[in-house]
Amino acid sequence: MGKPRRTIDRQDYYYWKAKEKGYRSRAAFKLIQINKKFGIIKKGYKVLDLGASPGGWSQVASNIGAEVVAVDINRMPPIENVTFLMGDITSKETLESVRDICSEFDAVISDAAPKLTGKWTIDHLISIDLARASFSFAEELLRPGGNFLVKIFQGEEINRFYREIAPKFRFRKFHSPQASRKRSAEIYFVGKGFKGKKLRE
Ligand SMILES: C[S@@+](CC[C@H](N)C(=O)[O-])C[C@H]1O[C@@H](n2cnc3c(N)ncnc32)[C@H](O)[C@@H]1O
Repeated sequence: MGKPRRTIDRQDYYYWKAKEKGYRSRAAFKLIQINKKFGIIKKGYKVLDLGASPGGWSQVASNIGAEVVAVDINRMPPIENVTFLMGDITSKETLESVRDICSEFDAVISDAAPKLTGKWTIDHLISIDLARASFSFAEELLRPGGNFLVKIFQGEEINRFYREIAPKFRFRKFHSPQASRKRSAEIYFVGKGFKGKKLRE
């Protein structure tokens, strides 16, 4: 199969490609593409995967040679080198349960997304809440110099969110991988070189 064109066929293309390669989700290709461009995850890294189910991103991280802790409010079938924790990432208890498993990560990645209501503003605001919750894990558990990746559905709060978290990273950028659906509102914040919990600006 040739290189995918940026057409509505992309959805099917990545669906079938995921089946062929044994990935649990087409989302796996978003992480593969983002990681190729930004080097968020490396072999030997400890990676925290938030909103991880059904497990495509965890599979990608595990294949790279990372040790993964995966969290989701829904179940996830086991994956090699992945410790799964069922929990709500907006709850403080979940953060403490993750800390009990591992107190410092090299990368925190979050593809957490709400069940879509179809109402753009509501979906956007819930997504911003999940992104903020994801950042609170990074703020507590990411090592200085570590990397952060989080999905957001675009909308009016996105600039405020960016202003809140961008100063905490030496490199920061919004990015949309080719594997994201063309008409999707999703975009990813990439933060590299975490300045550390105490280095606030
Ligand atoms: C797009 S899916 C993630 C796909 C995953 N990255 C993959 O490659 O298989 C979004 C996930 O976020 C999870 N999620 C939504 N809200 C959550 C919350 N409050 N706490 C934990 N997980 C949540 C959903 O259950 C869902 O599994």
